[in-house]
Amino acid sequence: MPRIRKREESLLFLKQLIKNPKSLGALVPSSPALADFMCSHIAFDKTTRVVEIGAGTGRLTQALLRNGLMTQNLCVVELDHSMCQFLRQNFPHLTIVQGNACDLPHLLPKDWPGQVDVVISGIPMVNLSFEDQSQIVEGCFQSLTFEGKLLQFTYGPLSPLPSRKLGLKQKRLGHVLFNFPPATVWQYSRALPYEKPSKRSSMGRLKQKGLRQFRRFKKHSLKSILSKDLRNTDAP
Ligand SMILES: C[S@@+](CC[C@H](N)C(=O)[O-])C[C@H]1O[C@@H](n2cnc3c(N)ncnc32)[C@H](O)[C@@H]1O
Repeated sequence: MPRIRKREESLLFLKQLIKNPKSLGALVPSSPALADFMCSHIAFDKTTRVVEIGAGTGRLTQALLRNGLMTQNLCVVELDHSMCQFLRQNFPHLTIVQGNACDLPHLLPKDWPGQVDVVISGIPMVNLSFEDQSQIVEGCFQSLTFEGKLLQFTYGPLSPLPSRKLGLKQKRLGHVLFNFPPATVWQYSRALPYEKPSKRSSMGRLKQKGLRQFRRFKKHSLKSILSKDLRNTDAP
């Protein structure tokens, strides 16, 4: 089992954090607890194919191999050149591609698009625009089998992707405390035509309710100000 060199890893992470904090989106690499929790939602067998996007220094990569994924069934995609070099040094037998996950189907080995069981992602989706999110999601679902799923971790309480807008079904798989900061893992799959896309989360519903009340309040106060003004101008 390849072991990640910790000192080099910390230095590289720090360098990236200074160079491009938005794209890195984390202070430290994911913990083995978070990586193993994500892996516990993948059914590994000899044919399971996984694509990892935003691999960073390879914490999820290492866990995928530790949990039984065959080397030839894993394809790793990472945007940053120095991260890719580090990954190639630490995982010399893996397929590691430098590229943007927005172009995912074009980055995979020839017969992979449409045949991938799971995409596991470390990309900080909350830092991306809706256009980038939808391009990445589209690429992921073009690469996945029909029943395939996308696993994503995030540090916030809400889904890092707007599932309804993207036509996805979302499921919160759980919360991992032994990570810095603690993280939540989400699973996304295609919303079938006869299924409604995911309902809003309770936080989302609360936000919408608040917004509706605020708009109603604004409308009523505007109306009463206007009618008062009109009454004042009518007066001799
Ligand atoms: C928070 S780090 C995650 C690292 C690792 N997966 C972990 O959990 O420790 C996010 C990584 O995603 C990469 N990344 C960001 N945007 C990307 C994109 N559009 N395509 C591929 N990789 C991307 C960054 O370069 C960075 O290495």
